[in-house]
Amino acid sequence: MDSIKSDGGVDTTRRRLLIASIGVLGAGGVGMFASALVDNMNPGLAVDALGEPIDVDVSKIEPGQLIVAQWKKKPVWILHRTAKMLETLSDPGLLKRLKDPNSRANQQPAARYVNGNYRAIKPDLFVAVALCTHMQCVPDYRPAPHSVTSWWYGGFHCPCHGSTYDFSARVFEGSPAPLNIPVPPYYWRSATVVRIGEGGSQGTFKNWTPAIW
Ligand code: FES
Repeated sequence: MDSIKSDGGVDTTRRRLLIASIGVLGAGGVGMFASALVDNMNPGLAVDALGEPIDVDVSKIEPGQLIVAQWKKKPVWILHRTAKMLETLSDPGLLKRLKDPNSRANQQPAARYVNGNYRAIKPDLFVAVALCTHMQCVPDYRPAPHSVTSWWYGGFHCPCHGSTYDFSARVFEGSPAPLNIPVPPYYWRSATVVRIGEGGSQGTFKNWTPAIW
């Protein structure tokens, strides 16, 4: 089993990601807390919020760690990116390998945070729907440099047909996946609680659905 270490390395002795007491609050005001073991390849184990917006407490996600929540019955990544990971996202060597570095393809809610190198409101906390844009497998988190190709900066690798993505889920040239992985509508309700499924002051985006779903 693999687990993700805070230094971006991979402990191959543990496959599952231990999520210690992730707070998940129903947007309708009915709250609950869930402690969950979420398998990176089995998002069905995550909390299912039945299509309603969800609130996730990120305060326990360590730098380099990835957790998986569930929204609209889809897995959603929340990745706590380190300064080193963020540095890779503007590296010219990486940018020239991307199909759509500025996420111009229309798969995103119309919010300013989905473009640019970070594709996030807070650069260190990245949120994306965890489905490959080829045939919707769940890509693996592969943070270790050179772990997929000789030039690999770290990112995500789809086990189904080999599509590769950077730490902002932007797809690399040579992948069968045509598009960057969508960033859902979300906003920060507080310093540590993110609401996924609504855009806050940037718009509600209630009916947003990418064409690939
Ligand atoms: S589903 Fe990911 S590469 Fe085909």
